[in-house]
Formats: sequence, C-alpha cells, structure tokens
Amino acid sequence: MIDKSLLPQHVGVIMDGNGRWAKKRGLPRTEGHRRGAEVFRAISTYASDIGIPYMTFYAFSTENWKRPEQEISVIMDLFRNFLHEAQDRRAENEERGFRFRFIGDLTVLPEDIRSLAEYMEQNNPERGRTTVNVAVNYGGRSELVRAVREVASRVQSGSLALSDVSEKTVSDLLYTSGQPDPDLIIRPSGEFRLSNFLTWQSAYSEFWFSDVLWPDFTTDDFDRALEDFARRNRRFGGI
Ligand code: IPE
Ligand code: IPE
Ligand code: MG
Repeated sequence: MIDKSLLPQHVGVIMDGNGRWAKKRGLPRTEGHRRGAEVFRAISTYASDIGIPYMTFYAFSTENWKRPEQEISVIMDLFRNFLHEAQDRRAENEERGFRFRFIGDLTVLPEDIRSLAEYMEQNNPERGRTTVNVAVNYGGRSELVRAVREVASRVQSGSLALSDVSEKTVSDLLYTSGQPDPDLIIRPSGEFRLSNFLTWQSAYSEFWFSDVLWPDFTTDDFDRALEDFARRNRRFGGI
C-alpha cells in the first residue's frame, strides 16, 4: 500500500492497444474495444477505492475519426452503453462518490449520446470522491484553439483586457477548468507519445509507459505506475 500523501491527485490514462490485443487473438479490433471498456470500469473503480480524486481516460481522439466507420460506430455504441449503465447504476455510483465529466467536443456526436452525457454531468452528486473525466472527441490542440477563440472574443468585446490574459485565464477555459493538472500520465501499449492528450495540462506531468496492451492492463499494473510515481523527484524547475 502506498502512502496516501504520495498518491497522485490526478492521473491521465491513454487507453491504447485495443486493436493489437484483438489482432493477437485473431479477433476483430472491436473486440479489443469491448474488452478495453471493461478495463476502464475496473481501473476507475480501483482508483476511487484507493482515493485518487481525479482520473482522465482518453477514449477517442479528434484524430480517431480517420478510422473505418464500422469501428467508430462500435466505439460510439460502447460509449452509449457506458452512459446507459451509469444512469442505471446511479445510486451505486453516487455511493462510491463518482462524478463523471466528459471532455472534448461532444457537439458532433450522435444526439442521444450527447444528451445522455449532458444529463449525467448535470446530475452528478454535489460531492464526490473521484471525478472521472472521459475524453471523447478530445484533442489538446483543439481544446487550446477553443480557449484562444474565447480569449479573443472577450478581448474584442472589452470584457477582458489583453494585459490581464494569464496562464490562469487559459487554464480556466480548458475542459479541465478547476481541476489539478495530471501528476501522472499512463500510456500502455508500447508507444511513447501523447497523441494530442492534455497538451497544456501535461507541462509537468510524470510519464509512465508500459508494453501491456490496454485490455490486459490490471490493477497491479496501475499499482506499479503509482509506486514508480511515488519515487519520482519532481522539481518543477526548482532544485
Ligand atoms: C485505443 O486502442 C482505442 C482508441 C484509440 C479508440 P487502439 O484502437 O488505438 O489500439 P491499437 O493502437 O490499434 O492497438
Ligand atoms: C490515442 O491512441 C487515442 C486514444 C487512446 C483514445 P491512438 O491509437 O489514436 O494514437 P496513435 O495514433 O497511435 O498516436
Ligand atoms: Mg492505438
């Protein structure tokens, strides 16, 4: 068990490797996504059990629209299932202290998904133990463009002085506004890149990479990441 004071306050997870997991087993890629969605449930539950206050799971990027339509449609179905299930298990989730947030541009998603997600966000419990951000149609760059547009519009209308634009102004305009930056970002599947995940917020994140494919990722892997994190020496530019 890790000392609570050494636990990250916010962990980002790039849920990668679903396709390769399926391929290895001679299954369609979509089976990997199905299994990956189960692992998402298991890891978010575990994170709340051990008391991590913020988790962000990268589920679908702004670049993932390049994939075949059928694969995208299965991913959207999984997202839809998750939303229905979360609604059905509202009491249970509330007791557990889950608060769900969706980060990314949901406006282009199927209408039913969008309204389920909005409903869920609006009906989150007042207090929670763990906020789970699910990043869908999320891209760090597009998130920044959105913030830049808002800054420009406020400056143009005179409600914000150019000289008052600060790092906080930008942070407050991101989807993660009000949340701590991720202390730790986990990427399984053997890739060493961010793939447009939390571009601004990851400025001082610690990274943890693993060859494990996301559908095989276990709470033991998560523990290993947390143990490594507890040993990191974060300096934030100091000495
Ligand atoms: C991650 O797994 C899920 C999404 C990006 C939606 P992949 O589908 O990218 O799996 P690999 O990287 O092809 O193995
Ligand atoms: C990153 O994985 C996006 C998600 C896990 C949702 P990708 O599989 O899309 O990333 P690249 O293309 O390998 O960089
Ligand atoms: Mg991938």
